[in-house]
Amino acid sequence: MSRILVTSALPYANGDIHIGHLVEYIQTDIFVRFLRLIGENVVYVCASDAHGAPIEINAAKKGMTPQELVGEYHRRHQMDFGRFEISFDEFYSTDSPENQKHSELIYLRAKEKGHIVSREIEQYYCERCGRFLPDRYIKGECPRCSALDQYGDVCEACGAIYRPTELNDAHCAICGGKPELRTSRHLFFKLMDFADFLQDWTSSPGHLQDEVRGFVRTWIDQGLRDWDISRDGPYFGFKIPGEENKFFYVWLDAPIGYIAATEHYCSNKSDISVEDYWINHESDIEIHHFIGKDIGYFHTLFWPAMLKAADYRIPNAVHVHGFLTVDSRKMSKSRGTFITARQFADHINPWFLRYFYASKLGSTIDDIDLNLEEFVNRTNAELVNNITNLISRSASFLNKRLDSRLGVVPQSCEDLKTQIFSHVEQCYLDNYIQRNEPWAAIKSDPEKARNDLTFAINCSKILAILLKPIIPSYSAKVEEILAVKDLKWEDIQFDLEECSINTFEKLVDRLEPGTMNRLIEVSKDDLAATEKKTKIPDFKEEISVEDFSKIDLRVGKILSASDVEGSDKLVKLRVDVGKEIRTVFAGIKSSYSPEELIGQTVAVVCNLAPRKMRFGVSEAMVLAAGSPGGKITLCELNPEAMPGSIIK
Ligand code: 2FM
Ligand code: ZN
Repeated sequence: MSRILVTSALPYANGDIHIGHLVEYIQTDIFVRFLRLIGENVVYVCASDAHGAPIEINAAKKGMTPQELVGEYHRRHQMDFGRFEISFDEFYSTDSPENQKHSELIYLRAKEKGHIVSREIEQYYCERCGRFLPDRYIKGECPRCSALDQYGDVCEACGAIYRPTELNDAHCAICGGKPELRTSRHLFFKLMDFADFLQDWTSSPGHLQDEVRGFVRTWIDQGLRDWDISRDGPYFGFKIPGEENKFFYVWLDAPIGYIAATEHYCSNKSDISVEDYWINHESDIEIHHFIGKDIGYFHTLFWPAMLKAADYRIPNAVHVHGFLTVDSRKMSKSRGTFITARQFADHINPWFLRYFYASKLGSTIDDIDLNLEEFVNRTNAELVNNITNLISRSASFLNKRLDSRLGVVPQSCEDLKTQIFSHVEQCYLDNYIQRNEPWAAIKSDPEKARNDLTFAINCSKILAILLKPIIPSYSAKVEEILAVKDLKWEDIQFDLEECSINTFEKLVDRLEPGTMNRLIEVSKDDLAATEKKTKIPDFKEEISVEDFSKIDLRVGKILSASDVEGSDKLVKLRVDVGKEIRTVFAGIKSSYSPEELIGQTVAVVCNLAPRKMRFGVSEAMVLAAGSPGGKITLCELNPEAMPGSIIK
C-alpha cells in the first residue's frame, strides 16, 4: 500500500472562508475520501496562512496582536471546515516553530549554494506609519484612466497594471499621509538558476494538467526573474537569519507550511516521520497539492525550485482548478453572491453544495458556475427525488409491511446489475420500484415484493458507497438504516440478503426555491452591517491633558428651541449655561423637532469663538454624536446636573 500526502492551499487567517474557497476544499476532500475508501494510506494536511502585512495591519486596526487575530480566524475556519465535512488530518499554522525551522533551513541551504542575492530597491515609505508600504497599501489616481482611489499595482476601473511609483497623488492607505521613496536592501531568490530543472519537471507527464503545462511554458519562456523574498520590519513573519530587521515574505514560508503541518501531524499521530514525507529521496510517498489558478506561479515554479535548492523532495502533482462564478458572474459583495461558508451552512444543508460541486468538478481549469436555479433543481431532482426516494421508499416499505427483513436479489436483476456496475449514474433506479410495484405485489406474492425491495436496498447500498467521498455523513445515515458499517469500495456488491434492516429515519428535506434568495439577502444584510462598522472613522492624533483642558465644557439646559427660517439643518436654541444664557444654532434638525429639545440637559462647549451666521451669531456648541447612518444623537446629561457645572 502506498502512502499519499495531500494538501489544499492554506487559507489566510484574515477573513472568513467563502463558497469560492470551498470549491477547492471540497474537491480535495472528495479526492482524499475516495483514496481512503479504496484503501490507500492518505494524509490530508492544511494550515492557517498566518503571516504578512495585511494580517499585521488588520490586527493593529482592531487593537489585537496578529497572533490573536490569526487565532480567532483559525478557530472560525476550523468550525466552517467541520460543517462542510472537510476531513483534514491536520490543520496547523504557518506561525509555528516547525515552520520557522524549515523556512530557515530551506533559506540557508539556498543561500549556501549561492541562490540568494541582495540588492537595493526603491519603495514607498510612510513616515507617519513608520513602515514601507506594500503595493496594496498605496492608493492614488490611475496613471492610465485617472480613476481615483486605486491600488498601487492595478487599477480596478481600467485594469491597467503599473508600479506604485507611477500612481498620481500616491498616499498611504493606512493613514492617508504622503509616502516618500526610500531605498532598502532586499534579498532575492535566483529562480533562473532552476530554469532547466523547472523546464524538465513541469513538462514531464503527470505533474501538471496539460492546460497548466501550457501556461507554465509561457512563463518560463518569458524569462524567470529573481524573486524578492524579504520584507523590512515591521512585518508579521519570521526574522531572516543573519539579517537586521528583515523578515521572510509571506509567500516564502506559506508553502513551507505544508511541511510544518506534516511534521506536526507526524509528531502526534504517525508511525513515520516528516523526513519520509519531505526529505528522504528513497521514500515513495506521493505528494499532491490542490490549488486555484491564481496561485499557479508560486506552486509550479517558486515552490519546486525552493525545494530543489534545499534538496527536499519535489511534489508529484499540482492539481489546479478554476474560480467559482455565481450565475456566470464573478462573486460579488453588492449582488449578495459573496456568500461565506458560515452563512451558507446556517441556511442550507452543506451536503447540497458538496453534491453540486462534485457534479461540476473536472480536470480542467475552467471556472465552475453555481447557477442558482440549476443548484436547486439538481439537488431536488437527483439527491432528493431520485436517490433519497429510492432508499426511503424501499426501507419504509420493508419496515412497515415485511418485518424489515431482506430476501434475496432476484435473478431477473442480473442485467440491471451489470448496467449499474458500468453506468451507475444513468440508471434511474427509482423506476425499478415503480415498475415492479411491490405495494401491489405484496398482496398476491409478498416474497416477490421482498426480493424486489432487496434489490432496491442493495442499489441503495452501492449508491451510499459511491456517495461516501461526496456526502460522507449522508452515506453514514444510509449505513445506519441498512444496518451495515464502514462500507468500503469492495462492498460494491449485491450481497445484502436475508438479514434485517433498521427503521428508516428521514434523510433530507427538499430545497425550497426561495432559500437561495433568502441567503443572498442575508449576505447583503451582513455586508451592509460590516460596512457600517468599517465606516467608523479612525482615532485622531493623541493630545495631552493640557490640550483637553483648554476646552470649556459645561452643563447646559435648553430653555427654548425654534426652527430657523430658511434653513433645513439648523435649530435655534437658548441654553442656560449657569452664568448666562447663550444662543446656539445647532445642526440637528434632521433628527430632532424643537419640542423634544426643550428642557434637555446637554453638554456645551462655552469657549469656542462666536460664529457669525446668516441667521445670527452662534455663541456656543452643544455636543452631539453623528452616526455613520446619518442619525444625530445629542449628548444628553443627567437632568440633575446643574447648568454651568464644568465637565471634565
Ligand atoms: O492565496 C492564498 O489564499 C494563500 N493563502 C495560499 C497559500 S497556499 C500555500 F502556499 F501555502
Ligand atoms: Zn501611513
